Amino acid sequence: MKQQWWHDKVVYQIYPKSFCDTTGSGIGDLNGITKHLDYLQDLGVDIIWLSPCYPSPMADQGYDISDYRNIHPDFGTLEDFDRLVAEAKARNIGIIMDLVANHCSDEHPWFQAAMKDPYGEYGKYFYLEEGMDGGAPNNWRSYFGGSAWEKVPATDNLYYLHMFHKKQPDLNWENPKVRREIYDLVNFWFDRGVVGFRIDAITDIKKPKTLRGRNYPPDREDGMVFCKRMLQDAHGIGEFLTELKEECFLPHQAFTVGEVSGQREEETADYVGVDGYFSSMFDFEVVSEESKDGGEWYKKKFITPSMYRRAMERTQKRMEPIGLISTVLENHDVPRIVNRMLRDEDRCDAAKKALAVLYLFQKGIPFIYQGQEIGMENTYNPDVFSMQDVSSHGEYRAAIDAGVSEADAVAIVNRYSRDNARTPFQWDDSPQAGFTTGTPWLAVNPNYKTINAAAEVGREDSVYAFYKAAIALRKDATYHDTMVYGRFDPIACADESVIAYARVDGNRRIVVVCNLQSKTTSIPIYGSKVLLNNYDHLQREADSMELLPFQAVVLKD
Ligand code: GLC
Repeated sequence: MKQQWWHDKVVYQIYPKSFCDTTGSGIGDLNGITKHLDYLQDLGVDIIWLSPCYPSPMADQGYDISDYRNIHPDFGTLEDFDRLVAEAKARNIGIIMDLVANHCSDEHPWFQAAMKDPYGEYGKYFYLEEGMDGGAPNNWRSYFGGSAWEKVPATDNLYYLHMFHKKQPDLNWENPKVRREIYDLVNFWFDRGVVGFRIDAITDIKKPKTLRGRNYPPDREDGMVFCKRMLQDAHGIGEFLTELKEECFLPHQAFTVGEVSGQREEETADYVGVDGYFSSMFDFEVVSEESKDGGEWYKKKFITPSMYRRAMERTQKRMEPIGLISTVLENHDVPRIVNRMLRDEDRCDAAKKALAVLYLFQKGIPFIYQGQEIGMENTYNPDVFSMQDVSSHGEYRAAIDAGVSEADAVAIVNRYSRDNARTPFQWDDSPQAGFTTGTPWLAVNPNYKTINAAAEVGREDSVYAFYKAAIALRKDATYHDTMVYGRFDPIACADESVIAYARVDGNRRIVVVCNLQSKTTSIPIYGSKVLLNNYDHLQREADSMELLPFQAVVLKD
């Protein structure tokens, strides 16, 4: 594999709205991030991915951008941004931005101009189609529920496409002017010093040739079909992505990570191979396993050790000849991992640390989502319609329509709401967890008195200290090459609740074992030296070792 500067990096995702508020507005801001750079440096972070912080009406929490070249006033100013980049750089931390270019906001000037004059220049920036048979141009359902088409105001029968919320109209990448606008705005941020981008919903940018009348067999009672079905008939995304790479990413030697999903299996190398469009892409295999029986939240499954193992091994095998995947346990779109993988009674520090071991040593570029490193957990809000996350409302309706009881629907939405990952960061045990001196935009998780950064940074046996030690081990010069480039070898275990794997590089072999259950178990002996352990001790016999509940160890042969 051709070595690249980003291969051995650890990335930390910040959701600016919920990280740290320095003004008392109740909304996090860029200065709040700058204020905590020492904390991130101490943890061992090399790159920060900022979820969108551009001007936005916030219909989808910033993933609906109304000005691509500025900072949302709630988050600060371009000067604050420049200071953040400079201060981060002084600590050897690079910043990557979120490139949301499948769609913009309906409040973006391009869309406003298009609505004023749908047949004019800006109408061609979007997908505008005549309706059919008195309804929408086709039967696609948007990601967030309801038709993916919305009427263009003051017209009889013209609609625009929005694969996400109706306030997120899809940009027409077939139009070279649109592509030029996008490349220029990407380069605007490179000029301001960012080192790369996380690229949102990128597989959706290419649509089939004709949209009008392109109906697919319905996949729900509503007579509609998930709009993503269209990907099977969309060909030629490579032309756009090669252009994007050549115009923007290559000249800046950028680190780019794609939110790639639904691509054809054989295209993975085109995306992230040696000369791929992007440096890396996220590992969504576990998320796909959770949704195997359907994407609706009421059908989602708890992640068992076998499910995780299957997903991990599939990803690692697929990626071995291709490149480095970006490994994740959490992001702003999924609930906290400690709720998706641990039962209520098992949610202890040892188990939280075991999950860190499980993924941090796989082959790939690890991403940590804010709060994961202190073991933040899901929250609870009995009033579904006061939830901020737009997808929660649609998923609640989908559950009720499918005959799920009211009480169960509320429980399900609480389990999966994206608000779970978006509650304010818990800095300390002062009011509002030290996140704000005002009223937070989303309620702080009441468990902040015990789960907070201040308490954990100072405690040797905390989840934070363990993440820090694990990251340090990953970067230890002695093991560096094995950790970054070593082959991933799965290790079969008789006990289904134990996940084990090795990283192999020449003569060096590192073994990772995780007992993902509340029972003590015994496995064959591996390794001679313990490099990391979430307990003080590892019980080893002549040919076996005993793993305590949720014990996880990294060993060297
Ligand atoms: C991505 C983002 C998600 C957003 C969607 C639309 O999936 O991660 O938060 O809602 O794209 O931009």
